[in-house]
Amino acid sequence: MPIDSSTQVSGQTVCVTGAAGFIASWIVKFLLEKGYSVKGTVRNPDDPKNAHLRELEGAKERLALCKADLLDYESLKEAFNGCDGVFHTASPVTDDPVSLFNNIFEKMLEPAVIGTKNVIVAAAEAKVRRVVFTSSIGTVYMDPNRSPDIVVDEHCWSDLEYCKNTKNWYCYAKTVAEKAAWEEAKARGLDLVVVNPMLVIGTLLQPTYLTGSVKTYANSVQGYVDVRDVALAHILVYETPSASGRYICADSDSIIHRGEVVETLTKFFPEYPIPTKAKPYKYSNHKIKDLGLKFTPVRQCLYDSVKSLQEKGHLPIPTQNQSNFNIN
Ligand SMILES: NC(=O)c1ccc[n+]([C@@H]2O[C@H](COP(=O)([O-])OP(=O)(O)OC[C@H]3O[C@@H](n4cnc5c(N)ncnc54)[C@H](OP(=O)(O)O)[C@@H]3O)[C@@H](O)[C@H]2O)c1
Repeated sequence: MPIDSSTQVSGQTVCVTGAAGFIASWIVKFLLEKGYSVKGTVRNPDDPKNAHLRELEGAKERLALCKADLLDYESLKEAFNGCDGVFHTASPVTDDPVSLFNNIFEKMLEPAVIGTKNVIVAAAEAKVRRVVFTSSIGTVYMDPNRSPDIVVDEHCWSDLEYCKNTKNWYCYAKTVAEKAAWEEAKARGLDLVVVNPMLVIGTLLQPTYLTGSVKTYANSVQGYVDVRDVALAHILVYETPSASGRYICADSDSIIHRGEVVETLTKFFPEYPIPTKAKPYKYSNHKIKDLGLKFTPVRQCLYDSVKSLQEKGHLPIPTQNQSNFNIN
């Protein structure tokens, strides 16, 4: 879905936490294209991994990188000062649960939960108009007692005991964090809107990416969504006055088996491998579609992801030229 430049916004300043991340980089890019002034928080503004942000169109004039850590309340308060809105995307994301094993609290729970509370409290204190929080489908669907015939929608919540018992610390942390965000926002009268994306794939703006394996995902069926659609969904719910509550973010036919993913990729790029089949779940995405978001087809997202990884040097370029492959 292309950015709608006919709705240029000027004079608004917004803050994006974790600005150099995979999703946040696209949010920053689109916000700048729309004319916003952006304050992006990063842990170290001098780190070369943030350099791509300074190259974005409009960055020289309207992007300021601010040093902030989710566990440093004062740094967040400083970053949100003078902002009309906040996009809270920063949170630990890992595809390597082994490295988490002995440090679940410090590495995952503390930054996700305490960090989110800090963001909400600091945003309320800075009197921002709206906070958009990047949650996850992981806060919605992890419930073994839900019948597979039930359509999963924004009313559903993951079962915390189940996440804990299955050691899915990412979903556990995001669920506790989202619940905390709702509680803190309600207590402070802060306008909060939440986006719950499925697994985000697509073109990278930033130079680095996670290096682990998809083996770490609990389900062999998974919903996928293009990073640009997720970024646009954030801006859409920020800009639509009537937007409220949670928004599941993925296309309705994007839930596919990992085998199908690899099968699709193998067609595009024959040198990559394949696994087995399982039953998909059903979910509703009509809330975000009703706001006007048009999703990129999952095959296109998969293709773009691999091309992007190749372009950034994270995957070897195939020896034969497959660029003429028809993705439709
Ligand atoms: N990728 C997905 O499939 C997906 C799906 C659903 C939801 N989400 C959510 O989307 C958000 C962004 O994810 P992403 O995929 O874009 O991940 P990402 O590229 O790893 O970005 C995460 C960002 O959070 C920052 N961060 C982590 N801990 C922090 C702390 N203590 N203080 C300040 N910043 C901190 C990181 O900064 P450093 O670079 O300094 O570490 C990084 O910029 C997360 O909230 C994630 O849960 C992601």
